[in-house]
Amino acid sequence: MKNKLEELRNNFLTGLSEIKDLPALRDFELKYLSRKGELSELLGGLKDLSLEIRREAGELANIIKKELQAKFEEAKNILENKEKKSFYLDATVPGDKLASGHLHPLTLVKRELEDFFATLGFSVVDGPELESEFYNFEALNVPPHHPARDMQDTFYVDLKNKQGEFDLTMRTQTSNTQVRAMQKYGAPLKVIMPGKVFRSEATDARHEHTFYQLEGVVIDKNINFAHLKNILEAVGKKLYGPDTQLRMRPKFYPFVEPGSNGEYTCFLCQGKGCRVCKYSGWLEILGCGLIHPNVLKAGGIDPEQYSGFAFGFGLNRLAMLKYTIDDIRLFNSGDLRFLKQF
Ligand code: DAH
Repeated sequence: MKNKLEELRNNFLTGLSEIKDLPALRDFELKYLSRKGELSELLGGLKDLSLEIRREAGELANIIKKELQAKFEEAKNILENKEKKSFYLDATVPGDKLASGHLHPLTLVKRELEDFFATLGFSVVDGPELESEFYNFEALNVPPHHPARDMQDTFYVDLKNKQGEFDLTMRTQTSNTQVRAMQKYGAPLKVIMPGKVFRSEATDARHEHTFYQLEGVVIDKNINFAHLKNILEAVGKKLYGPDTQLRMRPKFYPFVEPGSNGEYTCFLCQGKGCRVCKYSGWLEILGCGLIHPNVLKAGGIDPEQYSGFAFGFGLNRLAMLKYTIDDIRLFNSGDLRFLKQF
């Protein structure tokens, strides 16, 4: 009898320690402590024993019964409290801060410029990254086999167009969208076209195969170089502060005539000369010019009636100068140590 009681006690205690929730505890109670449970059954057997053994076993049985009941109540309390707690909601406890991402430095620069141009009345237009040679070159006054194609190392794509010709490229410049926008919206036109461009470059700290540009086009009657200069001056002041000067020097681009570059006073040394501007006092940021009549014609616009200007900014270069980033490859690196700084 003694052994049976000890065995029951042990089974009870190990069973109880494994119980995780109240329903399981209820089953456990039925199994051991109810009227027909194992303990009652065992105690019922006492009556068949001789008087002396019965007394001794009865004493032990009582001790064990009390112990097991106490343990049971204890476990019940713990489980009930746990269950109460899990339904308890304190709305005043500060929440866990979710780690959220943030904008890429190129997106920051792009959006800043988009907002600015929007205030000047420009619309934002998107163009395709996989582009025909026609829009990337020919429509921009760069015929096949023209040496001007060598200015841009191009990724040609191994796919035929609907006419069965190989004529797809990864666009080398956002200028590809100029003629598309002209064909779609006609004149007058006032748009910017930001986006990703690709070149088959040997990469280093200043050259990357994938980078961003922001193109702009204004077409209307009597548009001239002064309008272009005015807009570019406004952009320079917006980017680098009210004292920023613009310098324009002739530069050849096939799709403009005359063509020019655009340089701003170095924001770091205010034109005195420093490491960032290579001691020239100026930072070259863009290409621009008056749109070549051939390009207007390709866009279905009559160059006798309309004229326009175009410009293209390198967004990586802008971001590099703004945030003093010294390696262009960081933008595409996905390196969190870099990205988390913005
Ligand atoms: N597409 C030129 C480049 O990638 C930049 C450029 C120059 C754009 C002159 C223009 C422009 O719109 O008029 O180097």
